[in-house]
Amino acid sequence: MAIELTWLGHGSWLIETAGSRIVLDPFLDENPLSPHKAADVQADFILVSHGHSDHVGDAAPIAHRTGALVVTNYEISEWLRATHGVQNVLGMNLGGGVKMPFGHVKLTLAFHSSTLPDGSCGGSPAGFLLTLEGGKKIYFACDTALFDDMRRIGAAGIELAVLPIGDLFTMGPADACEAVRLIQPRRVVPDHYNTWPPIAQDPQAWAAAVRESTAAQPLVIEPGGKIVV
Ligand code: NI
Ligand code: MN
Repeated sequence: MAIELTWLGHGSWLIETAGSRIVLDPFLDENPLSPHKAADVQADFILVSHGHSDHVGDAAPIAHRTGALVVTNYEISEWLRATHGVQNVLGMNLGGGVKMPFGHVKLTLAFHSSTLPDGSCGGSPAGFLLTLEGGKKIYFACDTALFDDMRRIGAAGIELAVLPIGDLFTMGPADACEAVRLIQPRRVVPDHYNTWPPIAQDPQAWAAAVRESTAAQPLVIEPGGKIVV
C-alpha cells in the first residue's frame, strides 16, 4: 500500500495511509491557495503543530463534522475542548510519541511561537515525525527556524522531509537548504510559501539549490498536487 500525500496549500497536508485520512494543519477556508474547503475534507485524524490561525485554522469545524481525533500539544487540545467543544482530542508534548492505527506520531522540536487566535497560550510549537507503513518516516518541520538538532531528527532516516521556505515567519530558502543538509532525507518538498506576497518564493530555484548542494531529491508540487511515498 502506498502512502499518498496531497498538498492543500500553505502548511496544510492530507495524508492517506493504511486506511486512515490524516489532515495536518488544516487552513483551508481562509487560504487563498487551497483547492479544498473545510466542508469538503474528510478526516479520521487531524494533526495541529501550533496555535497560529494559519495552522489551527479549520481544525475545529472539521473535527466536529467528521469526528476525527485531533492530535496536538496539550495546551491546544485543552483550548479546542474548552472554547470549541471538540471532545475527541489527544494532548501531547515535545519529544512524546504515540501509537496510532496508521503508525506512530512523535512531536518534534520547532523554534517558533504558538499563541492561539484569541490570545490564549498555545504551548510549545512542534513539528511531526510520522512513522508510517513499511516503517517509512516523514518529517514535517512545520513552522520553524533552522536548528542544529534537525540533524538528530534526520538520524532516524527520513524518506520525505516537508520544510517551510517562505521566510519572514519561518526558515527562508537558504536556511531550508541547510536544513536538508542536516536532515539528509531521501526526498524533500517545500511548503509555507506563496500563500501571500510577503512569503513569495521561487520553489524551482530552491529545488535547484537543493539538487546542487545535497543528495536529496527535491519535489515541487502545486496546491492540490500529490506525492506517493
Ligand atoms: Ni506559525
Ligand atoms: Mn504559519
